[in-house]
Amino acid sequence: MSHIFSRHCHATPPRAVGGEGCYLIDDSGKRYLDGSGGAAVSCLGHGDADVTAAIEAQLEQLAFAHTGFFTSEPAEKLADLLIEHAPGDLDRVYLVSGGSEATEAAIKLARQYWVEKGEPGRGRLIARKQSYHGNTIGALSAGGNEWRRQQFGPLLLDVSHIDPCYEYRYRRDDESAEEYGARAAQALEDELLRVGPDTVMAFMAEPVVGATAGALAPAPGYFKRIREICDKYGILLILDEVMCGMGRTGSLFACEQDGIAPDILCIAKGLGAGYQPIGAMLCTAEIYQTLADGSGFFQHGHTYLGHPAAAAAGHAVVSAILNRGLIARVKEQGDKLVTRLEDRFGQHPHVGDIRGRGLFRGIELVADRDTKAPFDPARKLGAALKKAAFNEGLICYPMSGTIDGKTGDHILLAPPFIIEDAQLDELVDKLDRAITATI
Ligand SMILES: Cc1ncc(COP(=O)(O)O)c(C=O)c1O
Repeated sequence: MSHIFSRHCHATPPRAVGGEGCYLIDDSGKRYLDGSGGAAVSCLGHGDADVTAAIEAQLEQLAFAHTGFFTSEPAEKLADLLIEHAPGDLDRVYLVSGGSEATEAAIKLARQYWVEKGEPGRGRLIARKQSYHGNTIGALSAGGNEWRRQQFGPLLLDVSHIDPCYEYRYRRDDESAEEYGARAAQALEDELLRVGPDTVMAFMAEPVVGATAGALAPAPGYFKRIREICDKYGILLILDEVMCGMGRTGSLFACEQDGIAPDILCIAKGLGAGYQPIGAMLCTAEIYQTLADGSGFFQHGHTYLGHPAAAAAGHAVVSAILNRGLIARVKEQGDKLVTRLEDRFGQHPHVGDIRGRGLFRGIELVADRDTKAPFDPARKLGAALKKAAFNEGLICYPMSGTIDGKTGDHILLAPPFIIEDAQLDELVDKLDRAITATI
């Protein structure tokens, strides 16, 4: 009997014992094509010798030095590398151990910034429905997925949630994509005016929504307008690139493709590529300086901030992404993946939308293509698809509740950047069989 408190109480998952490139291997020898990098984590695939060597070398030199006393070489190097490539005025890096820690820190930093600026009345966060920002209380409060929030309602912060930018469902027939983008962004200004702009500290969003909406990319112009609205009312823009950042969409930072830069940016997942648990919150020099000129410290912290082995892994991963031409490869393989998905599923009676950027792709499933009616949630299609794909030897990331936390289903694909053409074929074949077996 296992003593592990596993994710599901009534299912014991197979034991993973190895990883090779795009495959994971269980203790029976079964190989699984990692079509979602777990949850958009394993961007370099499994068994990357350079990253492992960097971690080993760091552990031999220094495993841990508490950031209350020391900085460390790998943390400094990683921060320098990230800032060298970061968009806009981002200038400081706060290294944490995962995505929720990054978004939680972002929320607290936004609040402390306004307190130190002498505007303590700014305490409200505006975020979006159908986003996911993590599972700690602050991050979960920011997230807008009803299913994940429901039972924790009494514990959550009072966050405003506006509609997502969701062209497939919400663009009207008489609107262009740009007009819809402008209308979707207007929801932020409307909410600011409703609650009073002086009470708002920040707006938080995923540039390309991952887990809860299935690689939902914004309509053209949406984020430019969002940035304008934030600037008009002087509120901070926090972008959560925990899932879509670090090259996943075809640029190191996802927001580069929208032509904007945030005040605070969160990354994780692909930053450590699964080799170490690491995340980061980046902020502008102005935010940092406000604290520096005020109290002089960010009232936050965790024991494992800036862990040397994790930072060494992060540096090796980001170096690999940049130096091995992997961003260009994401675009190339991403185009090939979407072509294959469209060829295979473009006319499928239950595929409503194929979307995303780079190697971050989503398929929205519908009961009826013409009306876009979703399947009955009682079918629990997401769970059934995950199981069917797994039986086929494919790891993908299906999820239900795409539309409103209750209805709608999608499949998220986020394979390693090293995926080969033949493996793209294998992914689509296995996915096809899983969909056929499930629907
Ligand atoms: C956009 C986004 N933000 C935050 C998180 C939370 O990250 P973690 O699971 O590392 O805490 C996730 C995880 O899926 C995510 O997709």
